[in-house]
Amino acid sequence: MSFACRHKLDYNNRLIFFYYSGMPLSIVILAAGQGKRMKSARPKVLHTLAGRPLLAHVIDSARALEPAQLLVVVGHGADAVRAAMTDNGLEFVAQREQLGTGHALQQCVAALEPGNDVLVLFGDVPLIRADTLAPMLGTLADAAVCLLTFAPDDPTGYGRVLRAGEQVSAIVEHKDASVEQRAVGECFSGIMLIRGDRLASLLGQLGNDNAQGEYYLTDVVGHAVAAGDAVAAVVVADPAEVAGVNDQAQLAAVEARYRARRAAALMAQGVKLCDPARIDIRGELAAGRDVEIDVNCVFEGKVALGDNVRIGANCVIRNASIAAGSEIKPMTSIDEAVIGRDVTVGPFARIRPGTELGDRVRIGNFVETKQSRLGEDSKVNHLSYIGDTEMGSGVNIGAGTITCNYDGVNKSKTVIEDGVFVGSDTQLVAPVRVARDATIGAGSTITKNVPAGKLSVSRAKQVTIDNWSKPARKR
Ligand code: UD1
Ligand code: CA
Repeated sequence: MSFACRHKLDYNNRLIFFYYSGMPLSIVILAAGQGKRMKSARPKVLHTLAGRPLLAHVIDSARALEPAQLLVVVGHGADAVRAAMTDNGLEFVAQREQLGTGHALQQCVAALEPGNDVLVLFGDVPLIRADTLAPMLGTLADAAVCLLTFAPDDPTGYGRVLRAGEQVSAIVEHKDASVEQRAVGECFSGIMLIRGDRLASLLGQLGNDNAQGEYYLTDVVGHAVAAGDAVAAVVVADPAEVAGVNDQAQLAAVEARYRARRAAALMAQGVKLCDPARIDIRGELAAGRDVEIDVNCVFEGKVALGDNVRIGANCVIRNASIAAGSEIKPMTSIDEAVIGRDVTVGPFARIRPGTELGDRVRIGNFVETKQSRLGEDSKVNHLSYIGDTEMGSGVNIGAGTITCNYDGVNKSKTVIEDGVFVGSDTQLVAPVRVARDATIGAGSTITKNVPAGKLSVSRAKQVTIDNWSKPARKR
């Protein structure tokens, strides 16, 4: 047999390398089960972890191993699963009746490249990492089958790994196990590697004479041992990594585990988290030095935080970059925005898509911005809506100012040039331009362009009616 050596860098930039049988690798992800215990109309593998389907997480880990083929077995809710997984290079195999994990793999035989080694992953075991799987590939130098095993706190429900001395001899499902077998602590994770030259023969021997009347993938082990094949086992150090999701409680436990993993990685980079149990990273978060994040923040999509950025409690930040020295105060929502250096936003601000804030901009409470660019040193401190606006630098927007950008049909633009001062409670009816250094008196409704450097006001003059009395109550 020829051995090959492959190596690559993992997420933490450590070099991982492994030997394998010399045949290309095919990966099969089993995802046809209904997941009855989720008590949901949605197929189990489409339930989300960190905002993405469980199956997407498994696919990510599978791809990191650079397999020659990546197959997903679909059955229950097959159309929904196919529609949700649109990335390139996935092959779907239908399992019309769910007759067991072994039956699921049997459905793949025609689609698999003959001779390829086959790694089986479960769509409901989403925390598995590529660098835990990689050492399994090395075992095929000596073994025909390799299992990923673990020792959960509570083994109830899992298949038990039986050994004769050191050697793995069989897996027995919980429902088929004797009292003595149930006392075994080593369990099957569901992840199994089968050497390509043994696949067809081993799958061909599966029967369904067992407690559940199913074709168990796990029976491959007994058949391999009976044929004189060696079966290897790799034990996962952290049992949480192979925890399965069968009900909502397990899904929440997996979410907590994922959260902790992401938080630990951030802290390892030097980010200060006020409470690592209260941060959710549902995408990519890049952070500079001395970043501080208070409790209950959610990061989605791609977020980049510069040096010394501080994020207050209860912020939701999605697809945004926030440059060095900026502070996002509590209860702020930021979505698809670019924020400059030394900016302050919030508390209670809503920064919507297409917002660009220049350096040292100040956005205060109850301010909403959308599709707007605010130049350096401009301030919108209280209760405003700024939409479809081009704002220069050094502008001051008074409390309660609104850009009226929508006439019910079309959106129009507001331009506010450098150095403008807008008095409180002003409405800027777009399209409109306020020229450089203009001042607008409070309470104005501006419908015409405002000239530079002058004071413009549009409001009725204040009068006092002397000859007036309060209305009297009618009888
Ligand atoms: C399985 C293992 C058990 C192991 C446990 C780990 C078998 C027989 N048992 O049990 O030893 O300890 O996982 O979590 O393999 N699926 C299909 N088609 C089917 C049946 C299942 O695609 O016909 C898929 C499911 O969608 C799921 C995975 O296979 O992603 C596992 O199925 P599940 O029924 O949850 O197996 P367990 O009873 O948990
Ligand atoms: Ca399961």
